Amino acid sequence: MNDSQLARLFPTEDQIPAEYLIEPIHQREYLLNGDMRQWDGAVSDVYSPICLPAADGTLQRKLVGSFPVTGEKEALEALDAAVAAYDNGRGEWPQMGVADRIACMETFVGKMLQQRKLVVNLIMWEIGKNLADATKEFDRTVKYIYDTIDTLKNMDRNSSRFRIEEGIIGQVRRSPLGVVLAMGPFNYPLNETYTTLIPAILMGNTILFKTPKHGSLLHYPLLEAFRTSFPKGVVNSLYGRGATVVPPVMQSGKVNVLTLIGSSRVADELQRQHPKLNRLRSIMSLDAKNAAIILPDADLDVAVSECLLGTLSFNGQRCTAIKIIWAHASVVDEFLKRFGPAVSKLKPGMPWTDGAQITPLPEPNKTHYLADIIADAQAGGASIVNEGGGETEASLFRPAVVYPVREGMRLYREEQFGPVIPVVAYTDEEEFIQYLITDDHGMQASIFGTDPEAIARLIDPLVNLVSRVNINAQCQRGPDTFPFTGRKDSAEGTLSVEDALRSFSIRSAVATKDTGTNKAILNDIVRGHKSEFLSTNFIF
Ligand code: G3H
Repeated sequence: MNDSQLARLFPTEDQIPAEYLIEPIHQREYLLNGDMRQWDGAVSDVYSPICLPAADGTLQRKLVGSFPVTGEKEALEALDAAVAAYDNGRGEWPQMGVADRIACMETFVGKMLQQRKLVVNLIMWEIGKNLADATKEFDRTVKYIYDTIDTLKNMDRNSSRFRIEEGIIGQVRRSPLGVVLAMGPFNYPLNETYTTLIPAILMGNTILFKTPKHGSLLHYPLLEAFRTSFPKGVVNSLYGRGATVVPPVMQSGKVNVLTLIGSSRVADELQRQHPKLNRLRSIMSLDAKNAAIILPDADLDVAVSECLLGTLSFNGQRCTAIKIIWAHASVVDEFLKRFGPAVSKLKPGMPWTDGAQITPLPEPNKTHYLADIIADAQAGGASIVNEGGGETEASLFRPAVVYPVREGMRLYREEQFGPVIPVVAYTDEEEFIQYLITDDHGMQASIFGTDPEAIARLIDPLVNLVSRVNINAQCQRGPDTFPFTGRKDSAEGTLSVEDALRSFSIRSAVATKDTGTNKAILNDIVRGHKSEFLSTNFIF
């Protein structure tokens, strides 16, 4: 397939299947303090990575809508709303019992489900994710919410009893932390925003959430569901440029938790703006350069199919993607002989095209960046080893396998976050371990091999360098009950269905000495249902 064949994959308006046609959505309101506030100020146009041929024959990104670019004033109003709703822990939401909070969340999910078709379509149009993965992103998020609810019920059940130890009677429960600023990424704009937002809300915090630059409009249909499911001020949206709206919010010192899925550079900048760092908890998933190692005795069929998924699902735009492959010198040629054609065979197309695995890239300059890092490797003696690798047309980029990559090339260390796969040949496993030691990242790694001894020899050093070691399997976040975290510049805090509930809360205890008078007081409070915290109510 040459460039002009790639160009023909972009549709004309009348070739877009009717069910995925989109009328531009011009959002002129945002959620603040329980109201949909009207906006008549500046807006940002949303151009899809899906291009259409213009009258002059050039391919142009399709306009799919626009959203408000609010400023510092609106950001501080949203902050005030969240601070007031929290009211130092005395607000309606942080004081509400867990069962009632769960009921609000169930109302929300019901309303969210009504928007499924529109949100999935917007994921395809805004970030170019294929239909299967966009649908999976929505459904996985809904499942995550239900699993979070179930886990919270269990946690609450476990803390609905008193403990008597060393003459002290006490009850320990998890309490909210305060105001949470949540910022999601463009590659999982719904799922990764919600995997922080939802547990943060459920634990009784109040929220400011900033939509990502790409993948912003898809949040619009869900704002009304937030507005009508939770008390006012619990969920507030922040629209506009991060550089304008986020610094004043952080500098106020009123944010208690920063949760960000994005780059470590942005994380550093934001944390530093908070005047009282000890009061700020950060829960973040950041950069990663997950490496795979192919041992001499690896089953190459398994290695090829898992590396294919690991490097190129959603065009390699996953924080958990395998971003560099180390193959033993004795098998590297055979691996490339099988891997290269498998990569070239992946089907490019529009997100709705049946079986499309390579789809348009949302970041406007991404194809230039990818071409640059390939050229840098080529200048150092590497080549593209798969047929058609690197061919580009507008936002479509055919994945490129680049070999041999070495220290000194940008592809060796930089997180490319796209469809370029550097392959390194090694002779001694120690080279791979040294690579991980000297790398700034520490999220995951994959080992491909069949010899238990060789695999075990790598597992023990690797688990102290990264946070998940996958054996004969790609790197990935799921299942969502597994801990999702990283070392070094890759993460702060841990996410998973259960860990997230812990991350967005703190344990508080009520304790008294074991005397007759104190027991009578406790009994009176519990029997009279006089406290939400001090209670033995059991959620069924
Ligand atoms: O971008 C990072 C995502 O959390 C990856 O999730 O491994 O399930 O695709 P995934």
